[in-house]
Amino acid sequence: MKRIAIFASGKGSNVENLIRYFKNHPLIGIALVVSNNAQAGAVQIATKNHVDVLLLAPHQVNDGVFISQSLKAKKINYVVLAGYLKMIPADLIKAFPDKIINIHPALLPKFGGKGMYGSNIHKAVIQSGETESGITVHFVNEEYDQGRIIAQKAVKLDAADSFTEVENKVRLLEMEWFPTIVEQVISATETE
Ligand code: GRF
Repeated sequence: MKRIAIFASGKGSNVENLIRYFKNHPLIGIALVVSNNAQAGAVQIATKNHVDVLLLAPHQVNDGVFISQSLKAKKINYVVLAGYLKMIPADLIKAFPDKIINIHPALLPKFGGKGMYGSNIHKAVIQSGETESGITVHFVNEEYDQGRIIAQKAVKLDAADSFTEVENKVRLLEMEWFPTIVEQVISATETE
């Protein structure tokens, strides 16, 4: 069994979707949700689904050694980032090489990097008049939003699309694709 820890700071729709998808999965399970925000919907969803939660205090958020030790103690094999708004410390990246997967709600390499998080991303996409947006699932390395791309899925945008419409289109792609992409990465790696 491969055990995933999901890191999340927000509403938690991806946490909920991933928990649902991997329930009763023969190879992969969601074993832990890690958050920096006790109020996050993601934490409530984990608790409701009887998934263990690790809440990081402010002084622990940048402590990669502490976080990786906590993950190893829980026998975590993979980390999935789903709307986690804190920087991943270098020591954690070193402890889980090619085992940390992020979803970015745009088509990288555009609309990534500094300042490109939360609502900023869709706003920037709309402002630059893009005809499509989508999701990028990628490995996390030391360079923000620059790890190796695993998969991208795109959706057409209309010039008249509002922020909410773009957000909804991208979220639908997340719900449809993120769990299966994570599943494929882990299955492929584990049978190599
Ligand atoms: C998602 O759009 C994810 O791609 C992004 O943050 C958002 C998190 O939403 N990085 P939720 O907490 O899963 O609802």
